[in-house]
Amino acid sequence: MAALTVRALGLEFRNPVVLASGPAGFGLELAESFDLAKVGALTTKTVTLEPRSGNPQPRLVDAPCGVLNSIGLQNPGCDAFRAELLPRIRAFPTKRIVSIAGRSPEELGTLAARLSGEPGVDALEVNLSCPNVRGETVAEDPQSVRAFVHAARSASTVPLLAKLPGEGKYLDLVEAALSAGADGVALINALRGMRIHTETGLPLLDRQAGGLCGPAIFPIALQRVFEARKAFPETVIVGTGGVSDLRGALEMLCAGADLIGVGFAVMADPDAVFRLQGELDEWLTAHGISNVKELRGAAHRGGIHVR
Ligand code: FUM
Repeated sequence: MAALTVRALGLEFRNPVVLASGPAGFGLELAESFDLAKVGALTTKTVTLEPRSGNPQPRLVDAPCGVLNSIGLQNPGCDAFRAELLPRIRAFPTKRIVSIAGRSPEELGTLAARLSGEPGVDALEVNLSCPNVRGETVAEDPQSVRAFVHAARSASTVPLLAKLPGEGKYLDLVEAALSAGADGVALINALRGMRIHTETGLPLLDRQAGGLCGPAIFPIALQRVFEARKAFPETVIVGTGGVSDLRGALEMLCAGADLIGVGFAVMADPDAVFRLQGELDEWLTAHGISNVKELRGAAHRGGIHVR
């Protein structure tokens, strides 16, 4: 058996597979059918200070090799999350990363302060890159990223990730997040896209555009992670975007990810996600690699040296 444990963010993850924020919801439905001990962490759906009902329907449409979503951060709000969801989530046999977002640095700071220190909140992930909320995709400019991350960092004591987009000057955004106190970054979020109804000629999503996720964005996410690892050799990177199988997971590790975020695949084939750690173990063992950390960033070091 190979060692799959990943030490990152001051935490010990049982394996590098992380349920990314979004499709896994708050993990409650998954926990009924799957063993959450088979993933390194669950990242919750994004929580905001006040409850949000999200965007009007239609807000989900299929796309070649993926899906476009325009959910709009629907969630029950911080108070209900703490009172009703967190007591159940803290019983999960895996690490819990709570995703948070705010309309301003002040609001985000308040939210971070309320959640930091709550039992069951192992880390916070600041969602700065949701493509579906007007005026709140702060990760378009490094100064905003710095202000939001600084607010969350000052208000909390738990490890902090910044979830950033794969568009624009993303490396500047990584730099901004890290310099403001983030302990690592999750790269990338869904990429903006749209579809049009061929009978009406109108956009299929109410908000016209949505976030494209799934295998369609995998090569883009992989390249962004590769570039980020090259630029920031020491930082923690959760490589997220279209990983749906063992091959994708291996590629993401070789590009430089410490942890692999899996989102769309949870909707498309949850069995495959919960099989990943076993497949990873088998692959490493078959290739004579005793520890998964040997793969991290292999693409930057002349590749995998197989015995
Ligand atoms: O619309 C949403 O709730 C999606 C969030 C995200 O992509 O960060």
